[in-house]
Amino acid sequence: MALLKIVTYPDAVGILRTRCKPVMKVTRETRRLISNMIETMRHAAGLGLAAPQVGVGQRLFVYDVGEGPEALINPEIVQAGEEIEVATEGCLSIPRLQGDVPRHKEIQVTGLNRAGKPVRLPAQNLLARVFQHEIDHLNGVLFVDRAVPDSLHWLTEEEEEERVQVGRRRSVEAPEPEAVSAA
Ligand code: NI
Repeated sequence: MALLKIVTYPDAVGILRTRCKPVMKVTRETRRLISNMIETMRHAAGLGLAAPQVGVGQRLFVYDVGEGPEALINPEIVQAGEEIEVATEGCLSIPRLQGDVPRHKEIQVTGLNRAGKPVRLPAQNLLARVFQHEIDHLNGVLFVDRAVPDSLHWLTEEEEEERVQVGRRRSVEAPEPEAVSAA
């Protein structure tokens, strides 16, 4: 496995604002990309990472909210509950910026898992939030587009370092990360 470079805004505005293309076939190369994205996500203490964030314009993302890493390929939100929840988010492609983002509390998504098998996943709370954040990435949408404007704020370098350290420890030790996510 290898660590990939996470591209950031505004340098990589082209790929980060692209509507990504469906994955036509899950190949060995797709699985290698997924493995590398999972390693990269862990290293950065993220809860999710979408292909355009590593410069690949394909509709897939990886995630891990404490139950082990998985991938979702060609994801679609097929159902969204009415209840909206506002919580703080960050993004690995906009380092240190955080803001409060309204998201559906409950959704159902379909897609293919990393083995290429069709899945339909119910998701609530943090997992639902991560899915919505990552699916937005595949459509060229960033969390700042949806954040409550007054809520946007920059973390200091120390706070960002703490986030990464806590995130790394949490990823091996604790199943329930708090609602501040970087994806
Ligand atoms: Ni993100």
